[in-house]
Amino acid sequence: MNILFMGDVAGESGLRGLEKTLPELRRTYGADLTLVNGENAAGVGMTPAQAERIFYAGADVITLGNHAFDRREILNVIDSDARILRPANLPRLPGRGSGIFEAKHRDVGVLVLSGRVGMDYSPDNPFITAEKEVAELQKSCRVILVDFHGEATSEKVAMKFALAGKVSLLVGTHTHVQTADEQICSGTGYITDLGMCGPEESVIGVDPAWALEQFRCGKAFTGKNWPEGDAVISGVFCEIGDHDGKCVRIARILKTVKL
Ligand SMILES: [Fe+2]
Ligand SMILES: [Fe+2]
Repeated sequence: MNILFMGDVAGESGLRGLEKTLPELRRTYGADLTLVNGENAAGVGMTPAQAERIFYAGADVITLGNHAFDRREILNVIDSDARILRPANLPRLPGRGSGIFEAKHRDVGVLVLSGRVGMDYSPDNPFITAEKEVAELQKSCRVILVDFHGEATSEKVAMKFALAGKVSLLVGTHTHVQTADEQICSGTGYITDLGMCGPEESVIGVDPAWALEQFRCGKAFTGKNWPEGDAVISGVFCEIGDHDGKCVRIARILKTVKL
């Protein structure tokens, strides 16, 4: 089974870049299931119209993170559309944190978790949530995919050891900078961060002038606009054994798209 998992879509540049490349990536990799983290499609959060664009571009599942609830208009959609998942360790908010999807006539479990180190919203302990949620998904799924949305590399690497051998693929999201540590650990495909699908000329998606003013002065007044230049498209391709759910290949995807 072939899986495509694309990193945080950041702003209009990321959306347009994804729309331009995802159909071809799906064909090239023969994707049976395509997942996209959409939490920054609107900069912070994702509107229903942007969710539709991501699905139309080829996503089967949209995962979210700490910005899942920053656009109020998505609240009803998060609750009603089972293809959109927010972190499972924010259980008191609308929506769901895991789901079972069909690919190659098999059930595939997908779980989203938020980290706690350097993150807001006070999510429940992701390690305890992961134990419970993975045990539940294992009852019906051989193939389980996890998006661990976190700031700290330490927390994400620790999760690798918590879930190695128990899930098929564990990807980190949220930092918007792709790491070069893709690997297979006891049959689990792993990467600390997928990177983003967003503007190439940016500071993790935002205007460099805004980011520099923020860092230099402590407060920025130039407006937090999300630049619309050429996009960088980031993610992974992962090949998973249909019968045993083990990852046999993981490869990074990182390309620039002219818009
Ligand atoms: Fe995030
Ligand atoms: Fe993000």
